[in-house]
Amino acid sequence: MSKDQRSKELRPQSTGALGVALIGTKFMGRAHSTAWGKCAQFFDLKRPPAMRVVAGRNPEETKAFAAKWGWQHATTDWREILSNPEVELVDISTPNHLHAEMSIACLEAGKHVACEKPLAGTLADSKKMVLAARAASKRGARAFVWFNYRRCPAVALAHRLVKEGRLGRIFHVRASYLQDWGGADTPLLWRFQGDLAGSGAHGDLNAHIIDMARFITGDEVTEVVGSLEETFIKERAFVTNANGEVAGISPSKGGKSASTHAKKSGKSTVDDALLFLARFKQGAIASFEATRLATGNLNRNNIEINGEKGAIKFDFERMNELEWWDHTLEPKLRGWNRIMCTDASHPYAGHYWPAAHPIGYEHGFVSQAADVCAVVAGGAPIVPMPDFEDAYKTQCVLEAAVRSARERRPVPIRELDKF
Ligand SMILES: NC(=O)c1ccc[n+]([C@@H]2O[C@H](COP(=O)([O-])OP(=O)(O)OC[C@H]3O[C@@H](n4cnc5c(N)ncnc54)[C@H](O)[C@@H]3O)[C@@H](O)[C@H]2O)c1
Repeated sequence: MSKDQRSKELRPQSTGALGVALIGTKFMGRAHSTAWGKCAQFFDLKRPPAMRVVAGRNPEETKAFAAKWGWQHATTDWREILSNPEVELVDISTPNHLHAEMSIACLEAGKHVACEKPLAGTLADSKKMVLAARAASKRGARAFVWFNYRRCPAVALAHRLVKEGRLGRIFHVRASYLQDWGGADTPLLWRFQGDLAGSGAHGDLNAHIIDMARFITGDEVTEVVGSLEETFIKERAFVTNANGEVAGISPSKGGKSASTHAKKSGKSTVDDALLFLARFKQGAIASFEATRLATGNLNRNNIEINGEKGAIKFDFERMNELEWWDHTLEPKLRGWNRIMCTDASHPYAGHYWPAAHPIGYEHGFVSQAADVCAVVAGGAPIVPMPDFEDAYKTQCVLEAAVRSARERRPVPIRELDKF
């Protein structure tokens, strides 16, 4: 038995419910609470989750959140979770600058971790997280990342079609994630502050489509050839949260209460849009675009992949559908087929409703929570799970694109993918 195999067996296989804690109570806090609450209803799980404790920042809000979303306890000190023997897995749904500190502390405390994307705001933080996950894996702990779009049945089907060889050699990957909520009226949320978010639309949205492109093609980006970054809205208004803190900056990070803040607005220190071109190892060429200012596009996460035998198109705004072009047919029969991915033969779909009864945004998270529970219990996910090592590859591509834009040069991934 290798040293690696032996060390993985140090953690005795636990049984019964999987005690889960959540940190963060807003957008992803709600999505993940739904997922933990529903996954054992739709999937038969050896170790269903038990929603032990949620950590937030405001005591009253966190208590109300726990009662509403089904958490047994509430706390405003996430570090309490570290010594809680009832918690085996910690779900981190906080802004990006907190991912490293929280994940590493949880892994060192012997917990499994499911952290939101991007892995971190910076490549340096991501490296620390990968090293912590490697050390923790020797004690049997697992570290997952919530790249939820992999679990849309249509995206998982695209992954399978490529794996079955139905697209043949891949020539093109064309991906964009377009939103339009980032106009001048949007205040200086944490998402527009570089020290909290790392980057803007890039880390937020390109992270998803890089992960989807890697997942569907089963291939890796080797080089970012060129990149363009733009911050259109340079100043944004300050807003305060319920604690009187300015736009997501906690007092410990230098944030001030509204009454002590002299200025009404501050500088946005992230991109509003970032576009780049890339090469894949097996020869495909690719374009990626992320923006929060694509007026008319609310959440248009879309990808097209063209191969020698066929092509696929996916657009999250029509998330139950995958478009499929069979190039092996005789020309008179060729055309785009719209596959409604709700049949029991489609990945995940059979766990929900009868054919042509569509699913929605939350189901990607429900399916991911079910896969996390399955893997922790020693089983297999329905399609591959992104762990910290995997998310680090996406993080390297994100970093290469930023360097390429700022240094105006091609950036090979091998320049970054080092420890
Ligand atoms: N997978 C996806 O599709 C998806 C979508 C949106 C956001 N995200 C990611 O999820 C993460 C959170 O984003 P969000 O949209 O939920 O942000 P949000 O601003 O809506 O919520 C952030 C939460 O973190 C909490 N928080 C901040 N500091 C904390 C601390 N020290 N202790 C405890 N709680 C703290 C806040 O109180 C808030 O509840 C980010 O990493 C983001 O990139 C992923």
